[in-house]
Amino acid sequence: MYVRPAAAAAAAILGLTLAVLGGTASPAATGPGSPAGTTGLLVPVVYAHRGASAYAPENTLEAVDLARRLGFDWVENDVQRTRDGQLVVVHDDTLARTTDVEELFPGRRPWRVKDFTAAEIARLDAGSWFAPRFAGARVPTLRAYLRRAQQNRQRLLLEIKKPELYPGIEEETLELLDETGWLDEEHVARRLVVQSFSADSVRTVHGLRPDLVTAFLGTPAVADLPRYAEFTDRINPWHTTISADWVRAVHALLGAHGRALEVDTWIVDDAATARRVQDMGVDGIITNAPDVVQNAVTGF
Ligand code: G3P
Ligand code: CA
Repeated sequence: MYVRPAAAAAAAILGLTLAVLGGTASPAATGPGSPAGTTGLLVPVVYAHRGASAYAPENTLEAVDLARRLGFDWVENDVQRTRDGQLVVVHDDTLARTTDVEELFPGRRPWRVKDFTAAEIARLDAGSWFAPRFAGARVPTLRAYLRRAQQNRQRLLLEIKKPELYPGIEEETLELLDETGWLDEEHVARRLVVQSFSADSVRTVHGLRPDLVTAFLGTPAVADLPRYAEFTDRINPWHTTISADWVRAVHALLGAHGRALEVDTWIVDDAATARRVQDMGVDGIITNAPDVVQNAVTGF
């Protein structure tokens, strides 16, 4: 399993503690990660949120490609389902903010993703709202998105968005991931994390594919963390809600795969905040501006 430096350090300390206490912690593994920057701290992994979405329209193939060109292999996305059962990559549960759906389908208010077919969504322009030069960008199907990320040799932090609107979406997402090669040994070990704000959804994914790395989006109270550790590997909180003590408390627990729980925080788009959460010891930072955050955490 893929383990990042901060979590490996926490796991090492935890393992030592348990060894002293006669426990059986897994040995800390080493994994890919950057060496300490000039800050002297471990460097968190940087995730391009909805792609490099500060510079290209969110959740489009253009945003994925731009993340690649900027040098970032981890991309985050949001998965929902169309009326005819296709999985698509889009953040809001309506299409109004990020497409021209109101112009093309004026009578279909409130323009919910789940009320449109995949063919209808494929006609929408998902780029012009962001900047004229992105006119013609599309809402990608998850299949197309996975193909592009694979071609780009990227890694995916896949969010199941609002699963309460889409019963069975966990199974369908896993089926598609399997069909497209994203559940082979290499992807499961190093290239895929599935997350959700819904603990039930994360628990379902863990139950269906116990080998998969999962993350819960939120900031549970420290007392509740052990319950989450039963079915997830990471707790991914909004950066305004955390402290160094909370991060330490998360790291002190073993997750669903017997390794220290990790913390990837969101959405951090400025250097000062990036350094602040790095100081707290987070393992990863999810950001619309990955270049800004990477420079900050490596001391540039
Ligand atoms: O990956 C974390 C982040 O995506 C959660 O918030 O609303 O942007 O999906 P949201
Ligand atoms: Ca998301």
